[in-house]
Amino acid sequence: APQPATDDHAAAVARLILDIPDFPEPGVLFRDLTPVFADPLALRAATLGITEPFAGRFDHIGGIEARGFFLSGAGSALTGAGILAIRKAGKLPRTTIREEYALEYGTAAIEVHEGELEPGAKVLIVDDVLATGGTVAAAARLVERAGWEVAGISVVAELEDLGGRALLEDRYEVFSLLKF
Ligand code: PRP
Ligand code: MG
Repeated sequence: APQPATDDHAAAVARLILDIPDFPEPGVLFRDLTPVFADPLALRAATLGITEPFAGRFDHIGGIEARGFFLSGAGSALTGAGILAIRKAGKLPRTTIREEYALEYGTAAIEVHEGELEPGAKVLIVDDVLATGGTVAAAARLVERAGWEVAGISVVAELEDLGGRALLEDRYEVFSLLKF
C-alpha cells in the first residue's frame, strides 16, 4: 500500500502538471512538467516521491537526458547519491556503450561512458515520463551491459495506455508517482 508520504508528494506534484493538447503533433496530449520543476516544493516532492521507494538500495541515480537530468540532479542533492549521466548519442567524449530505441518515427540512441562507475554499482534510473517504455528500457540495458545493477526504474508520470510497464515489469522494479 502506498505510504502517506508518497501520497502527499504525489498530490503536490499532480496539481502543477499541465495537459497540453496537440503537442508535439495533433492528437497527442503532452504532460508538461516544467511547472513542477519551476516550483521548489513540487520539485522536492517529485524528487523525494520517486527516490524514497528505493531508499538505501542505490548509490547512483541514472538521469536520462534531457528531462531526466532535472530529477537526477535534485535527487543527488537530496539523497547523497552520485549521478550517472545517460546521454543522447554523440555527447560523451570517451568510449561509450550505446543502446538504440524506437520512437514513433525512427530510432534514437542513448549512451553511457564505459567504466564510469565501479562494477556492481547500483543505479536507480529516473525520468519524467514513462510512455512506451522504450527510453527507460534502453537505459536499463545500458546499465546492465556496463556491468552495473539496475536498482529500479522510477518516474514521475506514467502514461498507462502506452503500456510501457509491461515491457519492464518482469525484469525490473518499476515505480511511478502518478498514473495518467
Ligand atoms: C520523453 C520523456 C521520456 C520519454 C518517454 O523524452 O522525457 O524520456 O520521452 O517516452 P517513451 O517511454 O515512449 O520512451 P524525449 O526523448 O522526448 O525528450 P527529452 O530530451 O526532452 O527528454
Ligand atoms: Mg526524455
